[in-house]
Amino acid sequence: MSANATKSMDEIVALCRRRGFIFQSSEIYGGINGFWDYGPLGTQLKRNLKDAWWRDTVQGEAKGPGGEEVQVVGVDCTIIMNPRVWEASGHVGGFNDPMVDCKESKARYRADHLVALGAIDPGARLFVVIEGDEQQLEKAVKALLKYERCDALDPARHVVRPFTKLSAEERTHAIGPDAKAPGSLTEPRQFNLMFKTNVGAVEDPSNIAYLRPETAQGIFANFENVVNSTRVRVPFGIAQVGKAFRNEVTPRNFTFRSREFEQMETEFFIHPSQANEWYAWWRDRRFAWWQSIGLAGENLQLREHDRDELAHYAKEGAGTSDIEYRFPFTAPGFGELEGVAHRSDYDLRQHAEHSGRREKARYFDTERNERYFPHVIEPSAGADRGTLALLCEAYTKDESRPSGVYMKFHPRMAPVKAGVFPLVNKDGMPEVAEKLYRALRKKHACEFDPKQTIGKRYARMDEAGTPYCITIDGDSMTQQTVTVRHRDTQQQERIAIDSVPGWIDERVGGA
Ligand code: GAP
Repeated sequence: MSANATKSMDEIVALCRRRGFIFQSSEIYGGINGFWDYGPLGTQLKRNLKDAWWRDTVQGEAKGPGGEEVQVVGVDCTIIMNPRVWEASGHVGGFNDPMVDCKESKARYRADHLVALGAIDPGARLFVVIEGDEQQLEKAVKALLKYERCDALDPARHVVRPFTKLSAEERTHAIGPDAKAPGSLTEPRQFNLMFKTNVGAVEDPSNIAYLRPETAQGIFANFENVVNSTRVRVPFGIAQVGKAFRNEVTPRNFTFRSREFEQMETEFFIHPSQANEWYAWWRDRRFAWWQSIGLAGENLQLREHDRDELAHYAKEGAGTSDIEYRFPFTAPGFGELEGVAHRSDYDLRQHAEHSGRREKARYFDTERNERYFPHVIEPSAGADRGTLALLCEAYTKDESRPSGVYMKFHPRMAPVKAGVFPLVNKDGMPEVAEKLYRALRKKHACEFDPKQTIGKRYARMDEAGTPYCITIDGDSMTQQTVTVRHRDTQQQERIAIDSVPGWIDERVGGA
């Protein structure tokens, strides 16, 4: 069994709330489904993830498939854009999910997330559950056995089928996940995921605007501006980190499927003939990046899409792959963290056409003396899903510790890099500890903690995932050394007090 299959999501969610990683949004008013707030530790963790992404994508040095320097520049676009952007991109017409309502429970589901358990015989009663929800499935099996008055399922008759494959007649015998009577689920209907608003004082169909459902379109819409205002030339990338909004039919699994979330996207523009090599380069680079920040084990996988899964713009392309993480709620399966797609020249062409710029919008390649619409390789990652994966990966039970659990973050990601403690609050130790803490916090998020027993202080830091705890003790006063306690091994070593800032810098990657 994989390590993450044994981790309890309820316990991870409880720790996130108790220690201030993630809270329900507007909790004092009963919350709001699909929206989450980050507390002090969670904010720092997510910031470390986004900063590392920005540093490694935009500022970092990299050599491309032909040994060339990889150029990526950043933009920061508005969340509300001219609504014609979303007509051109296809989101107004096609950014839909099939939705099913339950007339009895008033719950709403994604039709493609539902499966029906029951006999294949005509008129058989079917029990509908959300795919992957083990508790619901267990209840459905019990209800089916009771209904059919048998002791065990018969694999020759009892099957699980996608809800979308049921005929209209079969749906009349289906009981919804939260319903008691059959026939309560409506036919699947298409539901547009974009949040709508109005710009200006009057609410009128003429001034409808949308909250962006992806950050990518701000990049495409600014392609010409960036080319004209900088020295970048194809091949080059434009990166953006920012909020995106989707009115998901069934937000679930903590922050995994939220209605407001952050993306970290790069659109990398290339000559069409170079699609294969740049696609493979980005796919491998992005996979290695997630490994480098602590998702190094068997819980991370790269999955190339089958042809029938490809988006309309990627059908004829070099490929699409997902970087997936095995979350406790998907285990033994995986959930998407990032998609790497060859988007062809679809978006640039669409904007050229819809904005009326047509030929003018074609890129002129001075080296090739050729005018063309560049193709795009798009690595598109979720900052919230990434943060959730870091939390799930870090969560480590250890009954021998007072905290019973510790968060094994990669030091570069850890929200707090070091805790600094005086062993006792006398003999000059607090002053020395505070001085060291003030020196360290110039560069790193650190905590000074003079309260309670040393064991309790370690326990607090273990739950926060702080990789190093530095204690000033009697020897610090005479020999100018400190003890450093390592979070994962709980082993201690003595180092010179003067060397502490450099020692920490080396281990936390300067983030
Ligand atoms: N521009 C391409 C694009 O937006 P996507 O696969 O729809 O592609 C990219 O989204 C990433 O954004 C996903 O891999 C995921 O990490 C994140 N994401 C998408 N929908 C999300 C949601 N409802 N909640 C949290 N993260 C989401």
